[in-house]
Amino acid sequence: MADPVAPILLFDSGVGGLTVYDALRKVLPDAPVIYAADLAGLPYGTKTEAQIAARVAGLLGRMAERWQPRLACIACNTASTIALGMVRDVLEIPVVGTVPAIKPAAAVTRTGTIGLVGTEATIRQRYVDDLETEFAGDKRLLRVAAPGLVQAAEAKLRGAPVDPALIADVHDRLAAMAGSGAGDDSIDTLVLACTHFPLLAEELAAAFGESVQLVDGAAGIARRIAHLLEGQSFARDGSPNRFVVTGPLAGANGLEAALAARGFGSAEGF
Ligand code: DGL
Repeated sequence: MADPVAPILLFDSGVGGLTVYDALRKVLPDAPVIYAADLAGLPYGTKTEAQIAARVAGLLGRMAERWQPRLACIACNTASTIALGMVRDVLEIPVVGTVPAIKPAAAVTRTGTIGLVGTEATIRQRYVDDLETEFAGDKRLLRVAAPGLVQAAEAKLRGAPVDPALIADVHDRLAAMAGSGAGDDSIDTLVLACTHFPLLAEELAAAFGESVQLVDGAAGIARRIAHLLEGQSFARDGSPNRFVVTGPLAGANGLEAALAARGFGSAEGF
């Protein structure tokens, strides 16, 4: 049985995994959490598979050694679709990944045309091909990369406005792939296959309209973590959750309000 103060480690390249953190706090409000943002490695989506795998496995190994977490969650689709197996080999604790929510999207689509927006690295993964074959073999899954949205989400959480052209570009590229537009084959479900993107849900929902349902995996991941930790006790000793960044601490500048609202103390360096 885990020590009651042993944390859950949530890991992402940046602030995207906070969307998983928010969902996790709803189901396990008392669990101590260390959130690690690899800002020195951000963005992952434009890196190679080898770069991402080496970085994520190395960092998570060192973090687990330092903090002795009871469970680690890779709250990043890019890192999970590339390095989940490798990280599970390295760590001796349960490791939960975050993979594109193709299964729930396939369950709700009525037109059978699903859009998927992720990072460049995620949308080319075999892992995603396999999810498509397994859960959406009889659907049309249209994938687009949107690296600009990662930076936009990072900036939004620091108080900056979102450039509507970035959102419109995602919409327009997917609409062009879907074909004529309205009709039986139009996109009615959009998978947010990057944990940063639910931070832009409002903007994406406005661009895609009411007929398109946005789907992400955060609530499912939170339930999975709660299930794996069922029966364990949690004690936070009155201390806030920890938000840790790689690289210069100044990388967390501007996040103060977002962190305080989520019950974190001041950002720390790794
Ligand atoms: N949040 C990450 C994901 O879910 C990726 C962002 C990035 O570093 O490119 O894919």
